[in-house]
Amino acid sequence: MKAIRIHKYGGPEVLQYENAPRPKVAAATDVLIRVHAAGVNPTDWKVREGYLRDFLVHKFPLIPGWDLSGVVEEVGPGVSRFKRGDEVYSVSDPSRDGAYAKYTVVHESEIAFKPKSLHHVHAAAVPLAALTAWQALFDTAQLQTGERVLIHAASGGVGHFAVQLAKWKDAHVIATASKNNHCMLHELGVDQAIDYTTQRFEDVARNVDIVLDPIGSKIQERSWKVLKKGGRLVSLLQPPSAAKAKALGVRGAFVRTQPNGAQLAEIAAVIDSGNLKPVVSRILPLSEVRRAHKLSQDGHTRGKMVLRVNGPTL
Ligand SMILES: NC(=O)c1ccc[n+]([C@@H]2O[C@H](COP(=O)([O-])OP(=O)(O)OC[C@H]3O[C@@H](n4cnc5c(N)ncnc54)[C@H](OP(=O)(O)O)[C@@H]3O)[C@@H](O)[C@H]2O)c1
Repeated sequence: MKAIRIHKYGGPEVLQYENAPRPKVAAATDVLIRVHAAGVNPTDWKVREGYLRDFLVHKFPLIPGWDLSGVVEEVGPGVSRFKRGDEVYSVSDPSRDGAYAKYTVVHESEIAFKPKSLHHVHAAAVPLAALTAWQALFDTAQLQTGERVLIHAASGGVGHFAVQLAKWKDAHVIATASKNNHCMLHELGVDQAIDYTTQRFEDVARNVDIVLDPIGSKIQERSWKVLKKGGRLVSLLQPPSAAKAKALGVRGAFVRTQPNGAQLAEIAAVIDSGNLKPVVSRILPLSEVRRAHKLSQDGHTRGKMVLRVNGPTL
């Protein structure tokens, strides 16, 4: 089959579009999926660069890209919820081979039925980013109706889902992005948009219950002061200082997203009810993966980027 593989860590040039063996169902709960589209996430180039090698053990050659939408081709004998022909979406464990390929094998627990209202290309934009927003806001921060939430990088993959999920829970949403993306933020329901290139967010955002921090370093450091007593700072990049949190009477947490098919099913239901949608700003063929990684690494993706793998996709 055609696949993108890397034979060592490195820059975009290590991404090779080449022939690879078609993966097989090996474990009882394995599901072989014919991939229609693969979402692009910053995790993909961080793995490629070797930045995550302390947390993830990889065997080379490695097929990157763990967000997918596609059709079940074959299931292991222990699979009960899916059968050949089902349309599914998934984010899988990034230590295994991923979905930048015509076929991939995923564990049953990491899969859900694709949202019925989305084509594969849009469904592939959802899994990791939406699951991250869900686990950060609901599982970790325990967002309550009416709370005030500050979402940094709200026009990015995680951020644009976080805005919509917070609005779904009737939160008051304050969001940062450059001015170019403020139209999109307002369309998604943001109450107060801050242009981080001309305004200091801490001069505008006050008495916040939850900060979602997908940026880390100085942005995280500056975020403490916007929280009210009992507030929560949830970071996707680095564990917040426990000492600082204690001194301020707030809580800090670091989230590492876990694959979760059951939560993807809940997310699909929210999408199909019309309360959540992916913004896909760019669709590229699988063979243009190097370009996709360079663009993602620039750090200004609007919503999501998706690679088209097998047709028909739209
Ligand atoms: N811990 C985990 O398990 C986990 C899971 C998922 C993601 N992550 C991490 O979370 C981060 C975000 O992921 P993502 O998919 O949302 O990234 P992304 O889609 O690449 O984010 C791009 C967005 O960030 C905005 N941005 C850049 N600098 C900004 C700043 N200083 N202030 C406000 N907005 C800024 C850009 O808006 P402008 O163009 O307007 O600047 C752009 O729309 C990544 O580092 C990713 O690896 C971690």
